[in-house]
Amino acid sequence: MRPIKEQLILITGATDGIGKITAQKLASLGASVLIHGRSHEKCESTLDDIREKTGNEKLGSYVADFSSLSEVRTMAEQISTVHSKLHVLINNAGVGPPKPAGKNPLSKDGYEICFAVNYLAPFLLTHLLVPLLKRGAPSRIVNISSAAQEPIDFDMMLERSYNPWKTYGQSKLALTIFTFDLAEQLKDNGVTVNCLHPGSLLDTKMVRESFGMAQGSAESGAEVEVYVATDPALEGRTGQYFDQKQEARAHRQAYKPEVRRTLRKLSEELTGIKLRQIA
Ligand SMILES: NC(=O)c1ccc[n+]([C@@H]2O[C@H](COP(=O)([O-])OP(=O)(O)OC[C@H]3O[C@@H](n4cnc5c(N)ncnc54)[C@H](OP(=O)(O)O)[C@@H]3O)[C@@H](O)[C@H]2O)c1
Repeated sequence: MRPIKEQLILITGATDGIGKITAQKLASLGASVLIHGRSHEKCESTLDDIREKTGNEKLGSYVADFSSLSEVRTMAEQISTVHSKLHVLINNAGVGPPKPAGKNPLSKDGYEICFAVNYLAPFLLTHLLVPLLKRGAPSRIVNISSAAQEPIDFDMMLERSYNPWKTYGQSKLALTIFTFDLAEQLKDNGVTVNCLHPGSLLDTKMVRESFGMAQGSAESGAEVEVYVATDPALEGRTGQYFDQKQEARAHRQAYKPEVRRTLRKLSEELTGIKLRQIA
């Protein structure tokens, strides 16, 4: 990896929680940091905070609601117009198990909300930014998964039954499977692809809203994200799931080729992106 001060890093969902602290840590290390959020005002106030706390002026922001795939496409186009290279992409944005239980909230495109925001949006964004990551190689893609992975039964829109915890867990296993799949596709391009569990019940808006309590700090989760995104010890490591800073086994379904193939086919149909086209 090149020195951190020469790296351009994009982190999604950086207007709150773990993502915001990660962005601040990366800025304090001297990286050029692009944050993403869904609210223009929140992006601006986040940039002001980071600038004030770190003195780093090499900052930018992009706005897109990840419940809309067309907004994800527009954001990728905007980034690709301004930047020819990217060194790290951290897919951090996410929604927790929807409330109230019993209802099945949908994205702007009409997809189940966790599947849309936590999986389809990063799937699409990542593919659209792969050309920049290849030009920035050695480069890294880091997907923020969770230990709360649930087996995928391909009722992804939860039409047969609806369970908010299952929907969140399925979206996180999907992101993990995508990590392993993409790592293989990009293994000869100098782009590593890993995913991580930042820690359990860390004190963020998502956890407070879903559980009404928290037991760890958002700061500790940000340390894990910075580690997997930048630590020289992980040079060349790809296709791994980290439980905090330790390499670990993901849910067993993540290693099943037929599940991987079925998920890839569904994702390609829903986003119009072909995985093999980009590698
Ligand atoms: N906290 C934990 O214990 C824990 C454990 C395992 C995994 N994770 C994962 O860690 C990541 C960060 O979560 P967090 O706990 O820091 O949650 P958070 O504080 O709620 O932050 C989530 C971020 O994602 C953004 N976001 C939410 N919905 C979006 C949408 N539709 N379009 C675009 N951006 C959207 C939020 O934007 P706003 O600022 O506008 O809300 C915010 O910036 C998530 O992927 C989560 O699943 C967290």
